Parts: sequence; C-alpha cells; structure tokens
Amino acid sequence: MAGRMTLGIVKPDAVGAGKLGQVLAHIEGQGFTVREARLVRLTRQEAEAFYEVHRGRPFYEELVSFMTSGPCFPMALEAPDAVAAFRAAIGSTDPAEAAEGTVRRLYAESKGRNAVHGSDSDENAEKEIAFFFAER
Ligand code: RTP
Ligand code: MG
Repeated sequence: MAGRMTLGIVKPDAVGAGKLGQVLAHIEGQGFTVREARLVRLTRQEAEAFYEVHRGRPFYEELVSFMTSGPCFPMALEAPDAVAAFRAAIGSTDPAEAAEGTVRRLYAESKGRNAVHGSDSDENAEKEIAFFFAER
C-alpha cells in the first residue's frame, strides 16, 4: 500500500536564489502538509551518506559538492500516495524535460542543480525521513 509520507529537500540552488518560500508555497499548494522541516548545511560526510546509492556515477562528486555548497531544506511531507504524488509535482530530473507547472520546470537551473529532491520509494522515504528527523 502506498504510504502517506515522503522526504522532500529544497536544494541549495533554490535556497541560495531566495526561492525557498515560493517553492514551499508551491508544494503546499499541491496538497502536501509539512510535518517536519529545518534548514541544514550538510557536511560532506552527510551528503555522501545520503547519496550513497549514486557513489561511482559520473555526477556523484558534482552532486556531493553541490549539496554541501549551502543550506538546504529537508521536509517530511504528508499526502495520499506521497512518494508518487511528490515526484509528479517536482517533475523530471532534468528541468528541460520536466512538465509545465512542476517545481523543477519552474525553479531548476539544470539537471544537476535541480531545485528539489523527492524520495523514490516508500522504503527510501522512511530511511530519508529518519536520516534528517530521527533525533528530536
Ligand atoms: P532526487 O534524487 O534528487 O530527487 O532526483 P532524481 O531521483 O530525479 O534523480 P537521481 O537519478 O536520483 O539523481 C540524484 C541527483 O543527482 C543529480 N544528477 N545530476 N548531471 C547529471 O547527469 C545528473 N544526474 C543526476 C541531480 O541533482 C539529481 O536530482
Ligand atoms: Mg533520486
């Protein structure tokens, strides 16, 4: 059964461009409720751990250095069928391929600097929410 929670991140490009509020308003406007969120500057070790599945890919170093380049804004988001709904709301990885009205189409600069992250499965959503919000 599809879960109600996903992990979204407003990435350093969008936060640095002063678009956090607009991106968050867009996400809330699409029907997602923010259950937890905070502004965080990832360490290299944390970014490497978060993107461990991509280690060895050609874009891995660029991704880790981008994600540590400034603060980002992880969010635990609730909605029906949250993982699929949020990936639909953010659009394709490359903004040039993202549908009209998606967050990436509206706010992403490039395939690497693409404004937002969204979990890709219920299992990863649970792990990623715990990664940022386990300790309280
Ligand atoms: P995300 O994990 O951030 O939600 O993005 P995604 O599922 O759409 O894309 P994924 O394949 O998981 O890639 C993770 C992030 O790596 C960067 N990337 N750059 N330059 C490139 O070819 C490239 N490919 C991926 C992006 O920041 C992507 O979101
Ligand atoms: Mg992904």
